[in-house]
Amino acid sequence: MKVVIITGSAHKNGTTAYLTEQFIKGAQEAGHEIFRFDAAFKDVHPCIACEKCHGSSPVCTFKDDMRELNPHLLEADVIALVSPIYYYDINAQLKAVIDRFYANDALLHDNKKAVLMLTMADDTMESADGAIASFKGMTNFLGWDIAGTVVGVNCMTLDMLKKTNYPEQAYKLGKSL
Ligand SMILES: Cc1cc2nc3c(=O)[nH]c(=O)nc-3n(C[C@H](O)[C@H](O)[C@H](O)COP(=O)(O)O)c2cc1C
Repeated sequence: MKVVIITGSAHKNGTTAYLTEQFIKGAQEAGHEIFRFDAAFKDVHPCIACEKCHGSSPVCTFKDDMRELNPHLLEADVIALVSPIYYYDINAQLKAVIDRFYANDALLHDNKKAVLMLTMADDTMESADGAIASFKGMTNFLGWDIAGTVVGVNCMTLDMLKKTNYPEQAYKLGKSL
């Protein structure tokens, strides 16, 4: 299967980067093809709802790094979204990419699987409730099946994450696809 991973964090050695690496390790061991897109290091303009993509000659206004991601998104069997929680939601870099799915909305209504991996400082799930609700709504709308989630509570730093079994959960989720 083709697995596309989209991350949001600007921390190259942060908590979500570590979960991403473990997830990829598991998925590669299971023989899957990986494409990783680190949104924080890409040029992705937020959607402005100009609707040109839904017009008579559909095209996105922005000629940015979504042109690199889009072919992989369309081919993907699994799409994994990975973000730190910022103010009770996914971060802006990942959200900007998701909103740009709009340009390929019809094509993305497909038989895909989705994964969500989050980390956050709080030691309860409360900070992740909004992100999880959005993910469930979005996957339901697009007709994607949820393959699994990893939600790392009490993980402000990489050291804290490494003392938990969330990296193991991420690895096993990648391997189970
Ligand atoms: C702008 C900002 C907002 C944050 N908001 C929350 C929050 O609402 N709840 C929470 O538990 N942690 C919050 N955090 C903590 C991060 O989610 C946490 O440190 C995470 O491990 C960072 O992941 P990363 O190392 O992959 O970037 C916030 C951090 C930042 C920088």
